[in-house]
Amino acid sequence: MRVVSGIQPTGNLHLGNYLGAIRNWVRMQDAMKEGQECYFFLADLHAISMPHDPAELKSGTLEMAAALLACGIDPARSTLFNQAQVPAHVELQWLLNGTARMGWLNRMTQFKDKSGKNREGASAALFTYPVLQAADVLLYQATHVPVGEDQKQHLELARDIATKFNHDYAPKNEIGEEAPVFTLPEPINPPQAARIMSLRDGSKKMSKSDVSEMSRIELVDNADTIMKKIKKAKTDPEPLPSEEAGLAGRPEALNLVTIYAALSDSSIDAVLADFGGEGFGKFKPALGELMIETLSPISQRLRDLLDDPEEIDAILARGAAKARESAAPTLADAYRALGLLRH
Ligand code: TRP
Repeated sequence: MRVVSGIQPTGNLHLGNYLGAIRNWVRMQDAMKEGQECYFFLADLHAISMPHDPAELKSGTLEMAAALLACGIDPARSTLFNQAQVPAHVELQWLLNGTARMGWLNRMTQFKDKSGKNREGASAALFTYPVLQAADVLLYQATHVPVGEDQKQHLELARDIATKFNHDYAPKNEIGEEAPVFTLPEPINPPQAARIMSLRDGSKKMSKSDVSEMSRIELVDNADTIMKKIKKAKTDPEPLPSEEAGLAGRPEALNLVTIYAALSDSSIDAVLADFGGEGFGKFKPALGELMIETLSPISQRLRDLLDDPEEIDAILARGAAKARESAAPTLADAYRALGLLRH
């Protein structure tokens, strides 16, 4: 089993990032057995497919790496790196561009969403983004790729590319059997990717770009700030219901209960079994306490790491060296299968 997954680097990491992708990565890493491996990377190359600020990309990459480490990704057990330090990603993408079909890419919903009305003005990188994503996983012979719902289509595409490449170019042995160049990766559903909404508006996702800092809990927030933000979170005057159905039409209440459930690893109904009938005057301090307990060790480590960017750099450099070594044989096979002459 080899798990490979990537995340686009951003700064200002918040609770939504933690309870969404990051915690799942840590759990997957912790569940790995002897002989199984995780490759986790920062998809900095994907980030240039949209207009971006170079200084922000650089600081975001360091911050995201620090957050992953602070949340428990252990570079001694998982290979943690950023794509830009492993040129094989770019190389394999080009090789796979010969196999990916325009028609396949035209069907990608993320491209349609991100390019919006201005398709002609979208970057070519945004269009071929899914081919780079295919290279990301095929390069390491990934068997399993944890991805959210929105990335399933890209993984499906990676399988299509791998299948066609193997079919068209994989070398055959003496009895005509194909020796596939690429493994077909399976998607895995993250065990529990909670969707965390803004503390100011229960219909909007918690986001680093929201103008109001009160809308999000940042991973660097200290205990006082966390408690203040939770106490000020928007709610309604009703007490909590005793079952999930009673949260219908109450997005802010639902969000706070969802956060409590995610932090305590329980279900919404289990939380409501404890707090049903209570008002927010009682629920909010309990939620604040739980959050402080969970996030304090993380924010402490995160602040320490952010004070020591050379340490983060060194960890990424070691991860990238491992990734380059592991990618080399598959990349060489792909060149060879295509008839590209290389020593
Ligand atoms: N496109 C993914 C996202 O935006 C990030 C990503 C890049 C990725 N390469 C990947 C995820 C490879 C899984 C596997 O979330």
